[in-house]
Amino acid sequence: MTVPRFVEKKQSGTKLTMLTAYDFPTAKLLDEAGVDALLVGDSLAMVVQGRETTLPVTLEEMIYHGEMVSRAAKRALVVVDIPFPINHHGVRAAVKAAGKIIKQTGCNAVKLEGGAEQAEVIQALVTAGIPVIAHVGLRPQAVNVMGGYKVQRNRDELMADAIAAENAGAFSIVLECIPADIAKDISAKLTIPTIGIGAGPDCDGQVLVVNDMLGATSGYVPSFVKQYANVADSISKAVAQWTDDVVAGKFPTDEQSF
Ligand code: KIV
Repeated sequence: MTVPRFVEKKQSGTKLTMLTAYDFPTAKLLDEAGVDALLVGDSLAMVVQGRETTLPVTLEEMIYHGEMVSRAAKRALVVVDIPFPINHHGVRAAVKAAGKIIKQTGCNAVKLEGGAEQAEVIQALVTAGIPVIAHVGLRPQAVNVMGGYKVQRNRDELMADAIAAENAGAFSIVLECIPADIAKDISAKLTIPTIGIGAGPDCDGQVLVVNDMLGATSGYVPSFVKQYANVADSISKAVAQWTDDVVAGKFPTDEQSF
């Protein structure tokens, strides 16, 4: 997958698929399953590091995980989030950080939270040869300003943010937690693909946090997630069985011995 092919999928009316990935083995499985794009989201702060918000994750940590995912992906587009608050440190800081992400991870693109207020940064990154996905609607990095993880309903502001990001050169936009009718109108208005998460069925593609859709989390799962597996349950059962076997002297047997 390349950035132009990703964008072309909208023109051909084919829905895009994106899942988060944070490590080599999971990224390899998702890549082999045919997912179009792997997002090394800053959600790794919550999903992998067990933090309360996405705010604490550092640039170095994003690079550490981004490199593993990029190395595992043979066909999917790999996108790495710019962590809070680097893209608000000005254009130079954003280009420096995004350049470091591209150089040290081998990923194809970066994602940043923001729309209209990030237009200058998006433009500078694209000028530097760094493809950008914008992220509008619920912006988890702004959770303290937004007063929680709430559905964003300001139609005019959402539309203005999306248009500003496209005009600045973003090749795609994540729409998070916005009413389906607004996401539909934004998707119809833009020429670049919209990727929805909690934004209804009419986006040009869908993204989910992989642990949520696999049921591999012990924490809160948002209502817009559909669980396609129960990995947490499988792990608990397997570990309980192994523990019982070890205690009962049933593992290892001759078969697992030299
Ligand atoms: O960090 C992340 O995982 C994201 C997705 C939820 C879109 O930004």
